Amino acid sequence: MNILVIGSGGREHVLADKIKQSKKCSQLFIAPGNAGTDALGKNVAISPTDFDGLAKLCLDENIKLVVVGPEAPLVEGIRDYFEADEQLQEIKIIGPGKAGAQLEGSKDFSKDFMHRHNIPTAAHRTFTKDQLAEGLKYLETLTAPFVLKADGLAAGKGVIISSTLEEAQTALTEMLADAKFGDASSKVVIEEFLSGIELSVFVLTDGENYKILPEAKDYKRIGEKDTGLNTGGMGAVSPVLFADSAFMNKVEETIVKPTVNGLKADNIPYQGFIFIGLMNVNGTPYVIEYNVRMGDPETQVVLPRVKNDFVTLFSAVADQKLNEVDLLIDEQTASTVVLVAGGYPEAYEKGKEISGLSTSTRYFTYHAGTTLDEGKTVTSGGRVLAITGFGENLQEALDHSYEGVEQVTWEQMYFRKDIGQDLLALSSD
Ligand code: AMP
Ligand code: GLY
Repeated sequence: MNILVIGSGGREHVLADKIKQSKKCSQLFIAPGNAGTDALGKNVAISPTDFDGLAKLCLDENIKLVVVGPEAPLVEGIRDYFEADEQLQEIKIIGPGKAGAQLEGSKDFSKDFMHRHNIPTAAHRTFTKDQLAEGLKYLETLTAPFVLKADGLAAGKGVIISSTLEEAQTALTEMLADAKFGDASSKVVIEEFLSGIELSVFVLTDGENYKILPEAKDYKRIGEKDTGLNTGGMGAVSPVLFADSAFMNKVEETIVKPTVNGLKADNIPYQGFIFIGLMNVNGTPYVIEYNVRMGDPETQVVLPRVKNDFVTLFSAVADQKLNEVDLLIDEQTASTVVLVAGGYPEAYEKGKEISGLSTSTRYFTYHAGTTLDEGKTVTSGGRVLAITGFGENLQEALDHSYEGVEQVTWEQMYFRKDIGQDLLALSSD
């Protein structure tokens, strides 16, 4: 079977690697891909939201399965586009249609969904531009910290947590009246602050059946000890020690089942990943957000632990036969350390030559923002590489990740040295 992976990050390098390992994969295409995926298949310079271009590629190359990495094409309706075309509708797509993608594309939609299906989440109210005065008054009835969320996609920057009322009121005004995030902040969700430890749970569903993949914790801030600006993610680990079977049972019963059943009850077909961002509040899981795709860099620790044949797995999703598959989970721990360009997540330079790229039995180097330039691998993004280490426990996995980190360098490379340290401290308490 010829297969296309859409996207260009570390997540897509993992997906391409897993798919390539299957005997059922004939030719593999990645659009647009990176220097890592170039070694696994054919990179094609088509943007993830150029549906006409992707459709033509699928027809020209007889592609039968499309795995969508990032959220933008899903929220913009790539599945709906393919389903509406007679020549394309037989192609299997991993990723929901526009309706299901609203779980990520609209915070207001996802909050309503959770309330409708009794899924635990922070209490909230939504305000539009016309309701700015009401919103400002509502903030006065709450206590700090205040959580404000732009309704739509805002490249991971749409959540503002303010410690004073004044700051929160300014932020609300900027979002609603000044369109700080453009259309994405034409509605703003104000919600209760949840205090606890975060973790992410990943579900693969065919709309009828589901499988819970290994959980992960990611590290979003640029600075050590979780300080500084938010990034796409600076590292991740899986499993997460505090997510024991009692906690994961609660997640399954109070969140995963009602989510899959809720989609069915709302007549929203869904075939793909659901990434559930959770807060563990004294042992009770609450949903912070849904994403309709895998996380990046969480994929770099979650999917390497899934030993199944991925083409079989994805075909089962598309054919609604996920109940016939048993997940095979590697008991090892995986950790990933993201290497970024100096300056990221603010301005940074591209085109720096990377030296010392390596992979061993103890770690694997996934590419994200890389490209080939006359045979050399150079940086082409903020998050450049993710080095995933494997081990019998978290310490060993981290040692192996950092062993890989030591091999590689480029001008102004930066990474966090404290990935996983909070969890190691928790487990030694
Ligand atoms: P998001 O962009 O939705 O992933 O949110 C960014 C971050 O904001 C999350 O990872 C949490 O750390 C934090 N956050 C979002 N909602 C809440 C909440 N209700 N209470 C506390 N922290 C939150
Ligand atoms: N690492 C967070 C995300 O992929 O959204």
